[in-house]
Amino acid sequence: KQICELAYQGASTAVGVAEKLLTEAIEKHGAEAPVKYPDTAYKLPIVTALSGEEILTLGDLVPVLNRIKTNNLKLEPVLENALLAGEATLYAGEIIEALRYIGDGKPDEAPYTGFLPDPILRKFGVPLVDGTIPGVAVVTGKAKDSKAGAKLIKDLQSKGIMVMLVNDIIEQCIEENIKVGVDYITFPLGKFTQIIHAVNFAARAGLAFGGIPKGAREQMLDYQKRRVPAFVIALGELDAVTVAIGAGALFMGFPIVTDQALPPELTIPGLLEPQPDYDKIVPLALELRDIKLKIVDIPVPITVGPAFEGETIRKADAWVEFGGGRTTGFELVRMVGPDDIEDGKIQVIGPEIDEMPEGSQFPLGIMVDIYGRKMQEDFEGVLERRIHYFINYGEGLWHVAQRDLCWLRISKQAKEAGFKIRHFGEILLAKFKSDYPAIVDRVQVTLITDKEVIEEKIKIARDKYQKRDARLKGLTDESVENFYSCVLCQSFAPNHVCIVTPERVGLCGAVSWLDAKASNEITPTGPNQPIPKGECIDPVKGMWKNINNYLYTASNRTLEEVNLYTLMDRPMTSCGCFEAIMAVLPSTNGIMVTTREYTGNTPCGMTFSTLAGTCGGGVQTPGFMGIGRRYLVSSKFIPADGGLARIVWMPKELKEFLRDDLVEQAVKSGLGADFIDKIADETIGITEESILPFLEEKQHPALKLEPLI
Ligand code: SF4
Ligand code: NI
Ligand code: NI
Repeated sequence: KQICELAYQGASTAVGVAEKLLTEAIEKHGAEAPVKYPDTAYKLPIVTALSGEEILTLGDLVPVLNRIKTNNLKLEPVLENALLAGEATLYAGEIIEALRYIGDGKPDEAPYTGFLPDPILRKFGVPLVDGTIPGVAVVTGKAKDSKAGAKLIKDLQSKGIMVMLVNDIIEQCIEENIKVGVDYITFPLGKFTQIIHAVNFAARAGLAFGGIPKGAREQMLDYQKRRVPAFVIALGELDAVTVAIGAGALFMGFPIVTDQALPPELTIPGLLEPQPDYDKIVPLALELRDIKLKIVDIPVPITVGPAFEGETIRKADAWVEFGGGRTTGFELVRMVGPDDIEDGKIQVIGPEIDEMPEGSQFPLGIMVDIYGRKMQEDFEGVLERRIHYFINYGEGLWHVAQRDLCWLRISKQAKEAGFKIRHFGEILLAKFKSDYPAIVDRVQVTLITDKEVIEEKIKIARDKYQKRDARLKGLTDESVENFYSCVLCQSFAPNHVCIVTPERVGLCGAVSWLDAKASNEITPTGPNQPIPKGECIDPVKGMWKNINNYLYTASNRTLEEVNLYTLMDRPMTSCGCFEAIMAVLPSTNGIMVTTREYTGNTPCGMTFSTLAGTCGGGVQTPGFMGIGRRYLVSSKFIPADGGLARIVWMPKELKEFLRDDLVEQAVKSGLGADFIDKIADETIGITEESILPFLEEKQHPALKLEPLI
């Protein structure tokens, strides 16, 4: 009862503030002034998601706020009304925050992030669906002291949870040297109403991945309850506005744990529970949200978790550096027989870190031997690529590239914490065993820092790389019996199905045909199923009977047919976490591609975010398609539409990223080594008109292809 009254009070205050600020803004900028968040396809996401009104200008907000005032603020103290008050608070928060962005300003100063744009949401799609990030914690308020607060956040980070911070806890974290920021999947949103950016993030997950239509309020709430693993930890005193915001969280289906000793009449079992003991807050929150963690205890003196994957270690902060062209470096995963391995053995050949002076450079060879009854040689590459992630998860460890190009650093902090070379082995041992139990029975790791030994061993590695590349070249769509499905993203996009073939990587870029095959071996009933191709219906567009049949069932009977080799006719659907997206540019008779990394405008008149917003949620949208970056350099890149020759525009960054392969593929398909220079980019123009003269001058082959439309 009391909670309901507080929520009502708080919501009334919030709505009152929103109204006042809106009136002021209209006086100052006029009712016609545009209002929007930066880099999103969903305008004001909470309004878009819950009621679907099209908000373009300040004036558009007036009727929305009035409706909320009339419909959502009700006095009778029942839980239902408290939830409505919560909803009202969300609208108020969204409006107050959006007003801060009038005139394309950047209202937030570091470290505060404010609104999290769509590319961030999409970037974390795969780790959220595959459980690398098992949940999202919104931590608001002020901890009883900074140490306790920092410990709580660190605990969440080590569990791989995405963290959104609001209010004083941010300063407390910074005081205690907790790493925060986008790179650490720990977003310091800001203060007060900036908590709304956690909610509009969640709402966009429903719009972008779930394909929930605008304004489908009930459907959206259902999606939030069932698919968004978010919870709130509210620290410090609860005033009326905090309670109202809390009611907003409950309205969205996010349970709340508070460190305040609430009397029983103020708790709502399963939804709002007190836990004054800081060590028990996170476990309770996870329990309320039914988040189960795979606990792996790794005996190393640093924290290991996905929060540290994006951390960079500058040269000046490195104690020692390996590879990167300066010294020899390589990494290799090898399948070995049961007698050639001593499970759990870690060997360091050469100096340990104590013998490495500060700021030095050493060679490093990482050899991981694996025996497993269900291990296959084909999986070596799949597992080897995991080395990059596993090592990067270590706080104070940095890893880039792969094979004999790898480049690593250990930070001074990690060295001071007691990190040793052999600990690389501990991390790899633990992670390979816990993540791949079905194919990994025994693991042994050899770390080589000796200048002479490494030159010997690298030969073994290079020999393997060569054999592997030869095998990959032979893996074509024709040469295999089975394609694989991937429905991992169905936890967010319930009808989406990726068909992964040897020559078409999943649109997230993270699942190749071999990855899918390995994953199926690990979890036979899991998200990746082999589909025997069977009878081919259309070899040019790439349609197979069995694939269609599978698709029909797996898409919950929403899709009957799919073509793998075109984007014009019943193309593959998108979930939302695509690395890149393609769109037709009619006047050029070609196709453009843009990426999550490129935030600028493109010749189709849309940024990546806007474009991405038009396509997703497991729906076929001819003319648009989400893809993995590397699909562009595949021999099966939309052959039915003319293949690579169709590409007329892409961001410079993508061109550089794919340069060598683009040139190779262009030569292979008879377009010539200079084809890459015929592709326009943002330095040529970002409209169809401005790139057309360039394409004509360069005699871009797309101009002579059959008309696309
Ligand atoms: Fe999601 Fe497709 Fe990637 Fe699987 S392959 S994780 S379904 S995007
Ligand atoms: Ni790291
Ligand atoms: Ni996805």
